[in-house]
Amino acid sequence: MPTSSQSYPMNGGDDQHSYIHNSSYQKSAIDGIEEKTRQYILKKLDILNLNPDLKTFTIVDFGCSSGPNTFHAVQNIIDAVKLKHLNKNKENGVLPLEFQVCFNDLPNNDFNTLFKTQPPSSEREYFSLGVPGSFYGRVLPRNSVHIGLTSYTTQWLSKVPEQVYDKKSPAWNKTYIQCNNLIEEVTKAYKVQFTKDMKIFLEARAQELVPGGLMIALGQCVPDGVYMYETWPGILMDIISDCLLDIAKSGVTTVEKIELFNLPVYFPLYSELMGAIEQNKKFTIEMMETASHAMQLTNDFITSMFRAVLSTIIENHFGDGVVDELFDQVSKKLSKQPIDFEKCKEHMVYHVVLKRQ
Ligand SMILES: C[S@@+](CC[C@H](N)C(=O)[O-])C[C@H]1O[C@@H](n2cnc3c(N)ncnc32)[C@H](O)[C@@H]1O
Repeated sequence: MPTSSQSYPMNGGDDQHSYIHNSSYQKSAIDGIEEKTRQYILKKLDILNLNPDLKTFTIVDFGCSSGPNTFHAVQNIIDAVKLKHLNKNKENGVLPLEFQVCFNDLPNNDFNTLFKTQPPSSEREYFSLGVPGSFYGRVLPRNSVHIGLTSYTTQWLSKVPEQVYDKKSPAWNKTYIQCNNLIEEVTKAYKVQFTKDMKIFLEARAQELVPGGLMIALGQCVPDGVYMYETWPGILMDIISDCLLDIAKSGVTTVEKIELFNLPVYFPLYSELMGAIEQNKKFTIEMMETASHAMQLTNDFITSMFRAVLSTIIENHFGDGVVDELFDQVSKKLSKQPIDFEKCKEHMVYHVVLKRQ
């Protein structure tokens, strides 16, 4: 059976391999856009003018995972909206806004850990709601969301394009597990799927957001002219597929199983991303910038991060026990031949703010 399309939440729980203990890379980019987001909300958010009687302000994090990054991102938005509301109503003493935050992710996300680890109610300035469901479709009522955010999510496609499993197709991806841009037809198939998914994502958000509502997105893409196999995430995913082949030699899995495993992940080119966003005429692009990670990467760090991100989908396809063996092999390989980050081509982290017209 090819890779299932519905089984890829981050590693739940709170052990050493969990997403909550291995997501500081994503957090560093979230921190990096904090000030820009705050400034934008203070200067430009006009929902409060459009709805002077607004009492409940709704924020949604699409693809929130099990925490804790979502709590930081959401709190930053609340702080800015509160300040904006306070400044606007200094003289006329209007009642403070109440906030509700909808945490969206796939139904098999570890929502228990998310809600167990959220700030205690005495410190939390919002009411929390869990919204299970794919963001490639509506998950909330029309005109009900004031600010939507999403970080490190839309590289996850709704499914793997089928041709990449077909040995007779020019888009057969052999034993590679990702779209590394080495086979042109594979790249084309992934690009088509990404474009379709982005269209659906934005159409759904356009229906959910109120006029004047904001959609803030942080994510990854590749500069035009750069290939995935030249970037460190691409190199690491190719090393993971090499290591799967290594462990297949000792009988832990089979080459046939590896051929049926592809990640529903695509880092678009910058121009593809912009094209997909510009297609949706319901939004205006208010800001589009590159963001950065203020952190020093090491081979151990990225291996642990990828383990937290990929172990569910790997276990689901290859069965119990493979994840430990596979990542031991990845660590061994990298200790002999580490990725040299200086020599890799840079992928890009983008920060985009869209406004619902
Ligand atoms: C790398 S995590 C990012 C989590 C968090 N936003 C952060 O920045 O740390 C990607 C998240 O997107 C979720 N996701 C992927 N596809 C999704 C979909 N179709 N609908 C909802 N969530 C999805 C995954 O389950 C996962 O929790």
